[in-house]
Amino acid sequence: MTQKVLSKNGNEPPAVNAAPPKQPAIKPLPDDALIIIPMRNTVLFPGVISPITVGRIQSVSAAQEAVRSEKKIGFLLQRDPQTNDVQPSDLYWVGTAGQVVRYITGAEGTHHLVVQGQSRFRVLEFLPGWPYLVARVQMVSQKEDSNPEIEARFLQLKAQAVEAIGLLPSAPEELTVVVQGMTSPALLADMVANLLDIKNEDKQDLLETFDLKRRLDKVLEHLSERVGVLRISKEIGDKTKKEFDERQREHVLREQMRQIQKELGEGEDTAAELEELKKAIADAGMPDEVHKHAVKEFKRLQRMGEGSAEGSMLRTYLEWLAELPWKESSVQEIDIAKARQILDEDHYGLDKIKRRILEHLAVRKLNPEGKSPILCFVGPPGVGKTSLGQSIARATGRKFQRIALGGVHDEAEIRGHRRTYIGALPGNVIQAIRRAESRTCVLMFDEIDKLGQGGFHGDPSSALLEVLDPEQNSKFRDNYLGVDFDLSKVMFITTANMLDTIPGPLRDRMEIIQLPGYTEEEKLEIAKRYLVKRQLDANGLKPEQVTVSEDTLRSVIRDYTREAGVRTLEREIGAVLRHVAMRIAEGAKEKIVIEPKDLHGILGAKRFESELAERTSVPGVATGLAWTSVGGDILFIEASRTPGTGKLILTGQLGEVMKESAQAALTLAKVFTAQTLEKTDIHIHVPAGATPKDGPSAGVAMFLSLISLLTAKSIRADVAMTGEISLRGLVLPIGGVKEKTLAALRAGIKTVMLPKRNEKDLEDVPAEAREKLEFVFLERVEEAIRTAIGELPAPGERKAA
Ligand SMILES: Nc1ncnc2c1ncn2[C@@H]1O[C@H](COP(=O)(O)OP(=O)(O)OP(=O)(O)O)[C@@H](O)[C@H]1O
Ligand SMILES: [Mg+2]
Repeated sequence: MTQKVLSKNGNEPPAVNAAPPKQPAIKPLPDDALIIIPMRNTVLFPGVISPITVGRIQSVSAAQEAVRSEKKIGFLLQRDPQTNDVQPSDLYWVGTAGQVVRYITGAEGTHHLVVQGQSRFRVLEFLPGWPYLVARVQMVSQKEDSNPEIEARFLQLKAQAVEAIGLLPSAPEELTVVVQGMTSPALLADMVANLLDIKNEDKQDLLETFDLKRRLDKVLEHLSERVGVLRISKEIGDKTKKEFDERQREHVLREQMRQIQKELGEGEDTAAELEELKKAIADAGMPDEVHKHAVKEFKRLQRMGEGSAEGSMLRTYLEWLAELPWKESSVQEIDIAKARQILDEDHYGLDKIKRRILEHLAVRKLNPEGKSPILCFVGPPGVGKTSLGQSIARATGRKFQRIALGGVHDEAEIRGHRRTYIGALPGNVIQAIRRAESRTCVLMFDEIDKLGQGGFHGDPSSALLEVLDPEQNSKFRDNYLGVDFDLSKVMFITTANMLDTIPGPLRDRMEIIQLPGYTEEEKLEIAKRYLVKRQLDANGLKPEQVTVSEDTLRSVIRDYTREAGVRTLEREIGAVLRHVAMRIAEGAKEKIVIEPKDLHGILGAKRFESELAERTSVPGVATGLAWTSVGGDILFIEASRTPGTGKLILTGQLGEVMKESAQAALTLAKVFTAQTLEKTDIHIHVPAGATPKDGPSAGVAMFLSLISLLTAKSIRADVAMTGEISLRGLVLPIGGVKEKTLAALRAGIKTVMLPKRNEKDLEDVPAEAREKLEFVFLERVEEAIRTAIGELPAPGERKAA
């Protein structure tokens, strides 16, 4: 008798002559033993419910015995699905124990189980003496300790899984809800692993990856590969469908339109429009080759007759061609003196930066055909990168356009889609050129550091490289246009928050100009000269109606903002003036004067006032200085102790390097305080913000926070520090001195401790900061203790502390 496998899994083609199960006297199983069923084609995962068909006589009796005695079954994958008479060496030794939830005897003598996977196990040894396989096993328990690393992967996996479900035409929609509601990373990983369309060996590998983080990583990798494939196939499917739908729709609409036009007697309009397009093409000043191409396409359009979908696409295309600024608008010669005046008009301070810009312009002026590098402004938000670009445009008499690159993942966003795509358009470079109506404009690429990495849609950074490369950009070819457009006269400027993430080849083409941020005095000047005026205009107020005193501005800067740039400052000034506008609208007649005491009522409680003193009042808290993409910032490092076993616990999204430096700090602190801390756990936390922090430069601060904790003496509130430490107690140099110093000044710090070897970097620090801050240069950590905490008791007394 031959039978068909019924189960979709088809694990167990039924054995020939499946005999009815016997009921022999069976000796009891040891406690740590499981009845084993070998699987030809299925890997069962914990938490997953799966139908399984059994056919081999041993498997059938194993299943029946398990059901009868209410025991779990261990399911193990066979190395070779063809093997019939399975020996222990034919099996993988890691599997999943599962409970049979239903047992169905099929019509043709087949046996179906519905099993629920419960937990992973590892085989210790197989035991002889049963009519089926039996093994002593060790259960692998899954600790569900969540930490940020797991959590991040969990969220990513969820998102990917939801996307995958959306892409699968056959997947039930409820599945999305199920996935979204899941709270256990381990369960989700196993569920996805079960559903993945991958080789059984790979599934087995996932089963054998006990470490949850690594398992999540592996599952994510498989899944994203799968999602990639699904996306492409869906795209292909969608496109064909959409193309069809839209063509039909458009056709119907055009037909209706023609009827309406006929009724209204406007039939000749299209002819006139075509005539207009023809004239526009003739006048556009296209290069010969492009013109020939356009004329040819135009004739095709005429032949095509009105109304067809293709005709309308072709017409849009020709309109694009005709509207591009092919003609070279004359560029006025750069007048350096006038340019300087305009830069000064638009921006306060920034002397060094303005000088570099003028130098750049001078070089261009002397050698207009030369290949000058591209300016790249790098700095925190709100320091004036974009507005400097606008100012340069004004100073050189060019139009200004900007293109945001943040999150651009697809090459087509820069270079356009081919015309064969329904709804295709040129890329954002050509679009910006059309908006500018001039190909001698200033084109600013914003956030070049946030440019997405190339996926399977092509690498946007290589397209950008082509745009910026003077060797290639005179023949830039947008996919939609399909003809060359000369970008060589465009003046490109780029901006970024950080240097590190700018793709290397791009960075090589650029002249980097750094804008570190402003001091309080500079901000005050910017506010007085620019921001208040602008916000007065924006709120429809006249200077006669309101005065915002200098002290008020200073208080806004000091108590309500903590930023390198002036963006929040401008916003808060806006809020103050809106309040004034309201009072005037309500009937106030006299000139309104805003004093610092009024701010509380308008902007709420001071935001940054007492944080320093409050935070550092307890022992164990040190004020560190960090360098981030938004400029420098202060950060509080908090250490605390609990009874324990000598562990070091680190929280606050710290990177690997920072974790190592915490270890080093602890070791050093133990040496210094002569404490072994065998019965104590130390917890170091770096709060504030979800920004991941990394780097060794918090070494001194972590060390001091520990010393402060272990000696129960607080650290001076007005001291901030940065520096790497060595295990021998040396203080090693760090980066970002300028930004960190400015941050300290903003936060109201009086003394900044820096590594001795960074002393030379003070040159770059603005004079205001150098005057207002006291600097202590550290060679060794003892000096840091002395400055920030005071003398430590002599080693003999330390232990008592
Ligand atoms: N030195 C300055 N003088 C006058 N105004 C300034 C100065 N610096 C910045 N501003 C003003 O601050 C505001 C923010 O500047 P801008 O938009 O250029 O910042 P950005 O550096 O481009 O920031 P992001 O990185 O967020 O794009 C603008 O209104 C700008 O005019
Ligand atoms: Mg900007």
